[in-house]
Amino acid sequence: MIPTVARITGTGRGLPSRIFTNDDFASIGIETSDEWIMERTGIHERRIGSETETTCWMAAAAARGAMAKAGVTAGEIDTIILSTATPDRLLPATAVDLQAELGATRAAAFDVSAACSGWLYAITIAEGMIASGAIDTALVVGAEKMSAIIDWTDRSTCVLFGDGAGAVIVQRNKAGEKAGILSTFMRSDGCLANLLYRPDGGAAHPMTKEIVENRTHLVKMAGREVFKHAVREMSEAADRALDSAKLRSADIDLLIPHQANTRIIEATAKHASIPMSKVYVNVDRFGNTSSASIPIALDEVIEKKIVGPGSTVMMVAFGAGFTWASAIIRL
Ligand code: ACO
Repeated sequence: MIPTVARITGTGRGLPSRIFTNDDFASIGIETSDEWIMERTGIHERRIGSETETTCWMAAAAARGAMAKAGVTAGEIDTIILSTATPDRLLPATAVDLQAELGATRAAAFDVSAACSGWLYAITIAEGMIASGAIDTALVVGAEKMSAIIDWTDRSTCVLFGDGAGAVIVQRNKAGEKAGILSTFMRSDGCLANLLYRPDGGAAHPMTKEIVENRTHLVKMAGREVFKHAVREMSEAADRALDSAKLRSADIDLLIPHQANTRIIEATAKHASIPMSKVYVNVDRFGNTSSASIPIALDEVIEKKIVGPGSTVMMVAFGAGFTWASAIIRL
């Protein structure tokens, strides 16, 4: 068995209370239908944050849940790594707002920007920091207020996304511990950046009245191209995670794929030879919450006792960049 240096000791999630169903799009003048959205994506509803339900607010709710389950106090956290594509402000990082909110006075705090793969990138960074001896305890959060950056007049993207946060505590393993992070894998291809991006509003093209009027500061996506790459790259990520952990598909108790849409999830599971009975899907209730999707799902499957101590869980993600990543953990 591969020795592990770190394990997940607690999970939590933080979700806005407002549920926005497919039928609700009619109320904002979007011509679509529950049938169209369900057939193409499997999404039925998503959560939408209010003005006060910010990225930091959702992150804090998720973090408090994870800390309570791990039995870790704010003062014991060495590092906060927060993955987000929707920071509350452009400067400073939302992770420091979270650090202040939690009163984690000993913690270094920084954001990771790797879109939907970001939480798996963040877990990999946390494990590496523990392996190097730099830290013992990390709070790793994926928090996204996608409703703030999508174009609510573009029906091809606005129906896909939702808001939410998931968090875990990652801690150094004691000698001989069987639970732990068994393998991780990360990749990117920036040549494909313009298939899923926000063209303007960054330092290259700072915000102007024209940018806001033309809505080019919001998410643009070439849906079909993204779909093809998502299936291919998530399949590769699954293969690499299994190879590095020296496991076979049959050893996996549960696959938690990034929740973008059910057709991508089904194709990934098929490629990895994992039956859908061993695949967790909650995209119907939350839509695509970007880097929050896997930690939200992980918290749900532990709470529902779908997995428990000794279970082997594989997680795979794909997102803007493109970035893709995977990890296998034993609980
Ligand atoms: N309701 C009704 N009709 C719609 C809607 C809608 N919400 N959106 C688009 N249409 C129409 C289009 O206008 C088009 O009509 P036309 O043929 O008259 O021009 C028609 O439906 C087909 O549009 P396509 O974009 O070709 O539809 P497609 O079958 O490709 O499905 C979808 C679109 C669902 C976006 C699909 O491409 C997809 O799932 N892509 C992956 C997107 C994704 O998951 N991205 C995120 C993954 S990575 C990450 O999480 C960051």
